[in-house]
Amino acid sequence: MAIERPPEGVRASNIVRVEGQVSRTERAFNLGHRSKTVWFTGLSGSGKSTLAFAVERALIDDGVAAYVLDGDNIRFGLNADLGFSPEDRTENIRRIGEVCRLFSDAGVVVLTAFISPYRADRQRVRDLHADGDFVEVFVDTPLEVCEQRDVKGLYKKARAGEIPDFSGISAPYEPPENPDIRVDTAQELDDCVRQIVNALDLAR
Ligand code: ADX
Repeated sequence: MAIERPPEGVRASNIVRVEGQVSRTERAFNLGHRSKTVWFTGLSGSGKSTLAFAVERALIDDGVAAYVLDGDNIRFGLNADLGFSPEDRTENIRRIGEVCRLFSDAGVVVLTAFISPYRADRQRVRDLHADGDFVEVFVDTPLEVCEQRDVKGLYKKARAGEIPDFSGISAPYEPPENPDIRVDTAQELDDCVRQIVNALDLAR
């Protein structure tokens, strides 16, 4: 057997990829729909989580296997060892990208709600997916609106200098230049959800 060399960044040696018996097509046939990664990006308080959970609700009601990975929640567990430095954010998104690929392979529509402030990090996740299987949704809520909402009270703290490296205030946010979907959260939530669900082509 030809042994594939592990790609750069892989620490282990003597590892070999193995193939299962079940194809992605077969899983899609079983579940009745395709799987995709729906990647919400936007500032803190832009509405990513609210939207992702509302789209999940709509998909589940439609009989689609869907699951949300949410930034704050993931940081309590899988990524509990990561903070908000640029390196840690990159690692946060890298790991989630790999998790998305696993969900895709398993046939599940995965919806993610991470600020994911760096374009290059989002592009890397896109590159892990086949064409069309990664849908970037830009939750385009202006900073002023997020700051005015300040649902978690974090902008106030960031302005007071109590939270260093806060996205949009003291750390960058690089908006998508060419998102697959752009959402204006000045609209009703239901309209945003319909816009996203209608744009996802999940037919097998
Ligand atoms: S990301 O930049 O690495 O994608 P992620 O989405 O996981 O961020 O986490 C963002 C959430 O962490 C925010 O919604 C907010 O509740 C909280 N948070 C705490 N500190 C910061 C910070 N310095 N910058 C941005 N969000 C922060």
